[in-house]
Amino acid sequence: MSTPVKTIGVLTGGGDCPGLNAAIRAVVKAGIGIYGFEIFGIETGFEGLIKKYARPLNLEEVRGIVNKGGTILGATRRHDPFHYQERAGEEIKTMDRSGDILQHASELGLDALVVLGGDGTLRIAERLSQMGLPLVAIPKTIDNDLSGTDVAIGFNTAVITAMEALDKLHSTAESHHRVMVVEVMGNKAGWIGLESGIAGGADVILIPEIPFSIEKACEKITGRTKLGRPFSIVVVSEGAKALGREETYIDPKRYRLGGIGQQIAAEIEKCAGLETRVLVLGHLQRGGSPTSFDRVLASRFAIHALRLIAQGNFGKMVALRNAEVQAIPIETAIASLKTVDPNDDLASTAEALGISLGR
Ligand code: F6P
Repeated sequence: MSTPVKTIGVLTGGGDCPGLNAAIRAVVKAGIGIYGFEIFGIETGFEGLIKKYARPLNLEEVRGIVNKGGTILGATRRHDPFHYQERAGEEIKTMDRSGDILQHASELGLDALVVLGGDGTLRIAERLSQMGLPLVAIPKTIDNDLSGTDVAIGFNTAVITAMEALDKLHSTAESHHRVMVVEVMGNKAGWIGLESGIAGGADVILIPEIPFSIEKACEKITGRTKLGRPFSIVVVSEGAKALGREETYIDPKRYRLGGIGQQIAAEIEKCAGLETRVLVLGHLQRGGSPTSFDRVLASRFAIHALRLIAQGNFGKMVALRNAEVQAIPIETAIASLKTVDPNDDLASTAEALGISLGR
């Protein structure tokens, strides 16, 4: 029989996204109101447990944050305790600080931890869970590439942000007889590109899962010109690549994708004979107020995570499957990335609508 939980911590790991604050708020409101937990907010992901950056969270701290983007706990991508980098004089040393995480969690009196994260954070969480840290995870990623859940916090808001951009670009593309190329996020998975492109009436959508032929994309654009529509909207995921080519990086050393929009714009201008402009949506997709869907999802996930904690059911990730919130092992969620199946319903829906996927 495990000891009853009295004190819990909550942290947000990796990149931020809309909906994190709604989840933190729900953890605090129900954690205090229903379970009588004492709650600590751990700052900047697992780094907060390495450095003991933690503060008590009460109802006052989470008042009025359901509609706020970002995370009140701060976020960093440099929080992996197994490869933690610290400056020692001129040198940067990489150390394993996982032992400190367990020790500091115990010093803070944490009986359990709620971890909000994407693939990278959940890989860390799984290792710490194996080492004996009692935790429950909540999936968040605008890329929506975590397995085991139909959707993660942040995805819906990001798709709507991209869709609204496409809606606005239509009129200017039409007025100027231009091709507008919109580069969206999604380094390995094309969910944002495909969903926003279908919803926003794109003519061409290029995603990482389908290496594209620029000639095929151009056929669609020139076909439209012949029909008296000499303008087009092209959506391209940052991780998309042409057949036989690699991904495009703006900073290869740090694996920062970017530049595919610019690259294909030059090629489209040549083959389609239309002036072409590029818009990189970038971190705009990670910002802003969460949609009602993300607020409700974040709240449902948080409440279910608390239930699991109260039952002592650790090492799980809450997930949405067929409209139901469930718990799955974290290792299932990180076993493989959830990518678009090129032969599945979403891709074929796009093509049935006359959208070219560059194949
Ligand atoms: O993981 C989500 C994501 O939005 C990716 O699509 C993108 O490549 C990455 O974050 C960029 O994040 P950052 O600038 O925080 O490293």
